Amino acid sequence: MKATDLRGILRYTARFRDRVFVLNVDSAVLASDNFHNLLLDISVLRSLNIRIVLVHGCSVQVKALAEELKLTPSDLDGMGITDHATLRLAILAANRLAHELLEGLSDTDQRAVLTNAITAHPAGILNGVDQQFTGQVERVDAKFLQSLLDQGLIPIISPLGFDGNGQTYRVNSDGVALEVSEALQANKLIHVSTSNGIRDAGRLTAQFSVEAAEEYIRDHRANIPAAMISKLKHGVRACRNGVQRVHIIDGTKDEALLSEIFSNEGVGTMIHANEYLAIRPALKKDAGMILKLIRESVEAQQLLPRTRRSMEERIGDYYVFEIDRNIIGTVGLKVLEGTPDAVAELECLFVAEHHENRGIGAKLMLFIEERARQNGIRRLLALSTQAFNYFTHKGGFKEGTPDMLPAARRAIYDKSGRRSRVLYKDL
Ligand SMILES: CC(C)(COP(=O)(O)OP(=O)(O)OC[C@H]1O[C@@H](n2cnc3c(N)ncnc32)[C@H](O)[C@@H]1OP(=O)(O)O)[C@@H](O)C(=O)NCCC(=O)NCCS
Repeated sequence: MKATDLRGILRYTARFRDRVFVLNVDSAVLASDNFHNLLLDISVLRSLNIRIVLVHGCSVQVKALAEELKLTPSDLDGMGITDHATLRLAILAANRLAHELLEGLSDTDQRAVLTNAITAHPAGILNGVDQQFTGQVERVDAKFLQSLLDQGLIPIISPLGFDGNGQTYRVNSDGVALEVSEALQANKLIHVSTSNGIRDAGRLTAQFSVEAAEEYIRDHRANIPAAMISKLKHGVRACRNGVQRVHIIDGTKDEALLSEIFSNEGVGTMIHANEYLAIRPALKKDAGMILKLIRESVEAQQLLPRTRRSMEERIGDYYVFEIDRNIIGTVGLKVLEGTPDAVAELECLFVAEHHENRGIGAKLMLFIEERARQNGIRRLLALSTQAFNYFTHKGGFKEGTPDMLPAARRAIYDKSGRRSRVLYKDL
C-alpha cells in the first residue's frame, strides 16, 4: 500500500464521520472466500468513525441446509411463499450466519449486536394465494438501532421480522435494508452483492441520478435480471426518501467496498439523490489534482504539458468542475495581450473519462464563455489537436487560422510544432 492512498482517504474522513452506512450483504458474499476481507474493510470504516449497520440475506445458506436435510424449501429469498418448514430453515440459517458475523467481527476487534429491530406482519394473501410465513416489514425500531450506533456497536439485522406476538416471519433482506436505511436516514445504502450493478453495452454504468435510474429501468426492464431491477427500484425509492446514495458492488472482489467509497469513480453502480455539482475557481491546493487529472490527455497530445509551478502561478485562470467535492473536470481562461480587440483563450478543457458524455464539457465551455463576456472579451479562441469538431459542433466555434493569434501567442504556437487547429467564437 502507498502512503499516498492514506492521504487520498483523508479527504473523505471529515465528510463521513458519524454518518450511517447500511451494508446489505448478499448471502452468496457471506459464503464466498472474500467474507473475511469484507469484515476487515468494515473494520477500516469503523476506524474512521463511520457508523455501520449490517443487514444480511440467507438464501444460499437456506438452500444448502435444505440439501443437507433433504428438504425442499418453498422459497429461498423471502419473496415467495414461506411454509413452516422453510421458515425453520431460514431461522436456522440466519442464526448460523449471525453467529459467523459475530465471530468474524470479534476477530477484527469490533463489537456487534444481533437485533430484533424489525417488526413484521404477514405478507398475507396475494392473488388468492396465502404467503404463509413470508412477512412484510411494518416498522424499524430506529431509536433502538441509533442507541446501539451511539455506543459504537454494529447492529446485525437478519432477514427475519417479529410480530410481537411470538411469531417470526421471513422477510426479504433487500426490503429490510431499504426500510432500515430510510428509517436511519442513512448516508449510504450499499448492496454488497455478487455483481457490480448495471453493465450497459459491456461498460459499467458508474452513476445514475434518480431520474436516470428510473428511465433505465423503463427502457431495459426486459434485459436485466429481476433481482437487479428490484435493487434499482429500491435504490430510487431510498434516494427519494432521504438516503443520499445507494451503491451496488461486487462483494466477492477484494477491496471492492473500500474502492467504491474512497475513489472518485468507484467500482460499482451508484444511484444518487441530488448530487453536489459545481464549477468553482481553482485554488493553489488543486494544482496537483488538476495535473494528475489531465496527465493522460497530455500524454495523448490532446492537451499542452504544464508544470506544477506554472499551474500554481496561473491558478487564477483555471476553474474546476466538482461532483461531491471531487474534481472531475477543468478549464482555463487566459486573456491574450497584444491585440486591439479583447481576445482570450479557452484552454485546458478536460473531463474525466468516467464522467464523459454527460454535458459537463459543454457546461465548462459555456461557463468560460460567460466569464469572458463579463470581462469584456470580444473573441474567444481555442486551440485543439483532437477536439476541434467538439468545439465547432458542441460549442459553436468556427474554424480559424493561426493568424488570429496575437504575436506572443503565435510565437509559442509556432515553436511548439503541435500545429493545433485554431477555433474562434466572437462573443
Ligand atoms: C472533449 C471533452 C472535454 C468533452 O467532454 P464531455 O463532458 O464528454 O462532453 P459533452 O458531454 O459536453 O459532449 C459529448 C459529445 O461530444 C462528443 N465529443 C467528445 N469528444 C469529442 C471530440 N474529441 N471530437 C468531437 N466530438 C467529441 C461526444 O461524442 C458527444 O457527442 P453526442 O452528444 O453527439 O453524443 C472530453 O472528451 C475531454 O476531456 N477530452 C480530452 C481533452 C481534450 O481533448 N480537450 C479539448 C482540448 S482543449
